[in-house]
Amino acid sequence: MILSAQTSPSLVGDIEIQYLHHNQPIYNPNFDPEIIDGLQKTPKTLPARYFYDAKGSQLFEQICQLPEYYPTRTEASILQNCADEIAAITGICEIVELGSGSSTKTRLLLNAYQQLGEAVHYVPIDVSAEILVESAKQLVTEYPTLKVTGLVGTYDEALEQLIETTPPGRLVIFLGSSIGNFTPQACDRFLQEVAQGLQPGDYFLLGIDLQKSPDVLEAAYNDSQGITAAFNLNMLEHLNWRFDGNFDPSLFKHRAIYNKKEHQIEMYLDAQKDHQVSLNSLNLNLDFKAGETIHTEISRKFNWQTLPEYLTQQGLNPIQGWVDEKEWFGLMLINSQKSPLSLPNLTKPL
Ligand code: TRP
Repeated sequence: MILSAQTSPSLVGDIEIQYLHHNQPIYNPNFDPEIIDGLQKTPKTLPARYFYDAKGSQLFEQICQLPEYYPTRTEASILQNCADEIAAITGICEIVELGSGSSTKTRLLLNAYQQLGEAVHYVPIDVSAEILVESAKQLVTEYPTLKVTGLVGTYDEALEQLIETTPPGRLVIFLGSSIGNFTPQACDRFLQEVAQGLQPGDYFLLGIDLQKSPDVLEAAYNDSQGITAAFNLNMLEHLNWRFDGNFDPSLFKHRAIYNKKEHQIEMYLDAQKDHQVSLNSLNLNLDFKAGETIHTEISRKFNWQTLPEYLTQQGLNPIQGWVDEKEWFGLMLINSQKSPLSLPNLTKPL
């Protein structure tokens, strides 16, 4: 067990935690150009990674259990059916998960890989060190032969790591509807980076939330217990403690609407009255007008039929897909298109 000084000392079993942000911290307490730019734009925007502090990650776990939030349940039911098939296709390999959170659905895959009879190496990656360490501890008690290497970092840092290292065989998993949280351009870039990071013979398992009735979608992001609202508003509390700020979350209201033309849920925080906010360590003073919005997230919904062609354009090679009975959610298993180039060695002198 190798531990960095920043983690709790009470880990058990075969766990290693590494911090990927060698060049710059994920959250720099004194500077984040994205926050400064975003809050000075019209409309104001905030980077979505600020959802996932310890409290935000907990609230997201609660969202996943809400009756209205179908993606988690639906994806788990698909995994329940196809995990053995996936394990049979890939064979024993390292499992790398981007944005692992509590790793709840991952257990369905780990069960299947355990049956292949060899020790499994699981590499969860998350921006929240707290949830990463907690779930690693939980996992090694549940799976005594599991080796866990948790990486604290952003997707970009994780993908960089993928490109730099070459293990024997790898399944990269990206579950939930997180792929939908990228703008179309960011999504292209992300998938191209994944494609670059995959070695011949590696696989990528992608969760995709599909287009469906706006009523179902809007309910999923406006739950009746107000957990999604608390999750969205928690971003402001996160900014307060990171950047010595004085956002008053009670002066904002959560709003989520489905934009039918763009096929995306859009999440906002709407200011309820004129007021001022400061983020002292960023030297930022902001004016809010009543009704002014901060755009916090999008969640794009995809068309299953056109997805394979799109993935192929990004350098990925979809080989098999599964959907639930309602066709609300899909899982796509993807292979690297790169195959080793076989060329004869030239033997004649120039
Ligand atoms: N990846 C999740 C999704 O797109 C994130 C999410 C769920 C979310 N509910 C939210 C983000 C509410 C912001 C606000 O479904």
